[in-house]
Amino acid sequence: MVNLENKVCIVTGGASGIGAQTAIQFAEAGGKVVIGDINDEPGEALAAQIGANSAYLHFDVSDPEACARAVTFAVETFGSVDCVLNSAVRMAPGALRDLSLQDWNRLIEVGLTGSFLMTQAAGRWMIDNGRTGSIVNVSSLGGRHPYGMAGAYSTVKAAVIMLARHFAIEWAEYGIRVNTVCPGHVETPLTVYMQDPVIKQGRADVTPLKRVGQPNDIANCIMFLFSEESSYVTAATLDIDGGVSSSIMNHMPGRKWD
Ligand SMILES: NC(=O)c1ccc[n+]([C@@H]2O[C@H](COP(=O)([O-])OP(=O)(O)OC[C@H]3O[C@@H](n4cnc5c(N)ncnc54)[C@H](O)[C@@H]3O)[C@@H](O)[C@H]2O)c1
Repeated sequence: MVNLENKVCIVTGGASGIGAQTAIQFAEAGGKVVIGDINDEPGEALAAQIGANSAYLHFDVSDPEACARAVTFAVETFGSVDCVLNSAVRMAPGALRDLSLQDWNRLIEVGLTGSFLMTQAAGRWMIDNGRTGSIVNVSSLGGRHPYGMAGAYSTVKAAVIMLARHFAIEWAEYGIRVNTVCPGHVETPLTVYMQDPVIKQGRADVTPLKRVGQPNDIANCIMFLFSEESSYVTAATLDIDGGVSSSIMNHMPGRKWD
């Protein structure tokens, strides 16, 4: 297990799924974690479950003042901000042809602008206080490939990869690393449809490692990116998808010679 003693992390979208699992593992690794979300009940319950090394804070990542407050809260509560996970997301399924401007804007505000604002707020504090850090954006398989009927989500997820690479280059001189993870099919409240065994099995079948992912599959890699073991890794984009994004040729009729 990586050692994150004395490290403080802000996790956006931390009340659920991949964010929640990352919060749990960050505290297990000896760190302290601010769980940020707009869904208060599970966020508070998770903070209570983790104990004294965590605190819940209601904040909406699309609000610049709220992101700045989250940094102040982390510093006042636990002494610093060393790591950030940008996991908060909003989804609006459907064809782009039918997507309302309101839904388009909200997806961008939460997924893209939220990642920008939270990273900017934390990085400003790190730079002003002479601290290094590690920030991770959560993109998606859908950020690598067009995700049918989720075009706005897919566009946001592609953009957060480039956003991380830009911050990484801009802040490398300060020792602030910024990376991106691209999960594949992961069982969380966001993917509640995977509770259907047929869908879950179908997704496992098209995945070379023959199973769908669990939140800890993603959190394990995020812990590495937060740790000193990845101190030479920045501007990287890591697919964590059981190989599914590299297996497209396996799914072409007539392409198997077995
Ligand atoms: N589950 C998957 O299969 C999968 C696959 C690829 C990528 N991802 C990405 O992983 C990340 C986490 O997804 P998840 O599956 O854990 O989802 P989830 O729905 O379990 O958690 C998302 C959390 O974000 C919070 N949130 C929404 N709007 C917010 C806002 N404005 N401010 C703060 N918090 C807000 C929600 O309340 C929720 O707790 C997302 O960025 C998602 O796109 C998930």
